[in-house]
This record gives sequence, C-alpha cells and structure tokens, in this order.
Amino acid sequence: MELPSSSLKRCVLWLFVFCLLNVSTIISHSLEKEAVFFDGKFQALYVIGDSLVDAGNNNNLETKVKSNFAPYGSEFEGGKPTGRFCNGKTIADYIAIYYGLPLAPAYMGLSEEQKNNISTGINYASASCGVFPETGTKMGHCLSLGVQVDLFEKTIEQNMKNRFKTESELSEHLAESLFMTSIGVNDYAYTFNKTTDDPKEFAKKLHNDYMSQIKRLHRLGARKFFVNNLKPLGCYPNVIASTVPRGSCNEGINQAISLFNAKLRKGLTPLKQKLSGTSFLYSDYFNFMLGLRGPSSNQASSNLLDSTSPCCPNVYDGKPYTSCMSNSTACTVPDSHIFFDPFHPTQLANFMYAVRCFQERKVCQVV
Ligand SMILES: *[C@@H]1O[C@H](CO)[C@@H](O)[C@H](O)[C@H]1NC(C)=O
Ligand SMILES: *[C@@H]1O[C@H](CO)[C@@H](O)[C@H](O)[C@H]1NC(C)=O
Ligand SMILES: *[C@@H]1O[C@H](CO)[C@@H](O)[C@H](O)[C@H]1NC(C)=O
Repeated sequence: MELPSSSLKRCVLWLFVFCLLNVSTIISHSLEKEAVFFDGKFQALYVIGDSLVDAGNNNNLETKVKSNFAPYGSEFEGGKPTGRFCNGKTIADYIAIYYGLPLAPAYMGLSEEQKNNISTGINYASASCGVFPETGTKMGHCLSLGVQVDLFEKTIEQNMKNRFKTESELSEHLAESLFMTSIGVNDYAYTFNKTTDDPKEFAKKLHNDYMSQIKRLHRLGARKFFVNNLKPLGCYPNVIASTVPRGSCNEGINQAISLFNAKLRKGLTPLKQKLSGTSFLYSDYFNFMLGLRGPSSNQASSNLLDSTSPCCPNVYDGKPYTSCMSNSTACTVPDSHIFFDPFHPTQLANFMYAVRCFQERKVCQVV
C-alpha cells in the first residue's frame, strides 16, 4: 500500500522535529533578557537582508536575479511564486510566525497607501546585494544594506509619521519592533577576491560598514536586533560542484566567512554597551547549515535528506549561471532536500532552522 505523499511528508517532518527537540539539548534558561526574544511580543518585524530573506523586492527591480516564477513558491500559500528564493517560507517568515505577526511584505511591492497603513513590519531585503554598495550589481539592480536603511528612514519620514501621531508613539513602536539583519555573504560571493584580498582586512572592513548601519538603525529608533550570521557558502551546491574532491566544502571561503562571523559575534557585546537600551539576538546560521550537511553533527538528517544537490534544477551540473529557471525541472519532493536551488535552502530547512533557534535555543543566543 502506498502512503499519500502529503502524509509521508508530514511523517518525515515530525520525525525531524522529534530528533531536533532532543531533551538532552534543551538547557533551561530563565534570564530576563532571554524572555525578550524567546517569550516576548513585538509590534512589528522589519527585515534587512539578501536573498535568504527577500520577500519579493527584486520583482520590482531591473535585475536577472529574480524568483517570481514557478517552481519557486510551490509550497507557498497555495503554490504561488512571490519572489522568495525558496519553495515556501523563508526564515524571516518563520520568525514572523513565531511572534504572531503577519509575514512582512516586500517594500518595493507596496503602494503608498499600503505603506501608510502597515504597522506590523516591512521587508527591505534584496537578492544579490550585500553590505558594500558595489556587491551584486553586475547582475543588475539591488538594494544594498545602506540603501535598505535609507528606505527604512524614508518609511519613518513619509509613512510612519502619518500613522503615529506623537513622537513618543513612534519611538515606542520602533523600540518594540524586531529588526532582523541577514546580509554580507554576497560580499564574499561577488566582491571578495581570494587572490588579492586579505581575509582579515576584508572581514574588518565588512564588519565596520555593517556595524555603522546597525548604529544608524539605532539612531532611527531600533532597539531589538536579530542578527543572523553568514552562511557556510563553501558547502553550497553552486560551490561544491567544482571542488576537489567533488562535493567537498571549499574550506578557504568558509574560513574567510568564519573570521567575519567571529568578529560579528564578538562585537555585539561592546556594541550593546555603547548603544542605549539595545538587545541583540545572535543567530549562528553558519553552524546550523553545516550541521544539516552532516554527517558528524547530524547523522539522521544527512541520511534522510539530500544535503548536496538542489531540488531545482533536478539535474544540476554546477556550471556557472546554471540555476533554477522557469523552464527548469524541479524534484518531486522538495522536502527530501536541504537546498531548493543551488544557492538557497528549502522551506523544510528554513522550518528546521526556526525550531532549532526558538525551540531548542541552540542556534540563537541573546547577547
Ligand atoms: C489597512 O490595514 C488593515 C489591517 O491592519 C486592513 O484591514 C485594511 O484593509 C488596510 N487598508 C488598506 C487601504 O490597505
Ligand atoms: C582577483 O584579482 C586578480 C589580480 O588582480 C585578478 O586577476 C582576478 O581577475 C580577480 N578575480 C576576480 C574574480 O575578480
Ligand atoms: C531555459 O531558458 C534559458 C533562457 O531563459 C535558456 O538559455 C536555456 O537553454 C533553457 N533551458 C532549457 C532546458 O530549455
């Protein structure tokens, strides 16, 4: 007898949840500062980032880097492509869901009327962009970190000031909103030059520029930050297709990214002391994604899930510029893969991330 594929999927899903909620890894935390992020309520979620969390901003930009066509979105609210680089929800979507908020809509797709009306958050994230203004621009237009913060400032000036009648109402709203930042890996993918750039110097400059935008957000009123570190790009399908032996991670690029991540984590403690009333949640997305790859850290998932080849295209040759296109054939069960396309995870991987961050509290830590 054959199980219907949906119940099979559900079964596989719950098996993961069971594994991930392994009792031995649940450490009891009772500190008040943790309550802000793990039990707290936020008025809104503002998302700043790249394609990992883009909710459709690039749909409205002149660029080749888009995902507003099938097979993207096959599992998204009835199977509609939205411009998310995934078959379903992104990690920003799961963060919104965790806090009981609507999914933050893409800024570039909103009318002025909608911008004036929204008070539960907006998404400014843009695929292919990074911290440095030049990153990703070879592929077309995108919104760099600085431009995203510019747009957020514009939102305050042109939209929020109409909605919130008093200064104190507005600053309360901003202080009680969550600001997710997830950006910087494209600076490694497109701007970092392995032969000419010193990884230490590059990480230092990237970190300085990143933190100056965090400080800008703080000046604008942001107080609670969800800072996602950079993914292990060296283990992604587009990279491992050309490593020797084929399929092994590119340790050079991972080490360069690790240098940045360590700086990011370490820098949050002094930054918190410098910026009044600030809390950070640091998300170790790098090690989460490495763990999904297995086998040492997560045997079960590495046995059950394809952690090296993307779902789309179903047959991936790893040639540059080969990605998931509207004429690509996708795999039939995305939930059997960690990666949906050569650069981005599946909804299942994003869901597993949210469980490990919020439920298990292993990936995410309060600073
Ligand atoms: C304004 O937002 C409310 C919900 O917050 C919604 O019901 C209403 O349709 C929105 N109006 C416009 C014009 O978007
Ligand atoms: C990196 O720099 C070297 C030396 O300047 C140059 O030859 C090479 O094309 C650069 N690589 C990329 C990807 O820009
Ligand atoms: C898919 O479309 C692209 C252009 O959009 C084209 O270059 C490619 O050859 C097509 N692939 C197939 C399998 O038809």
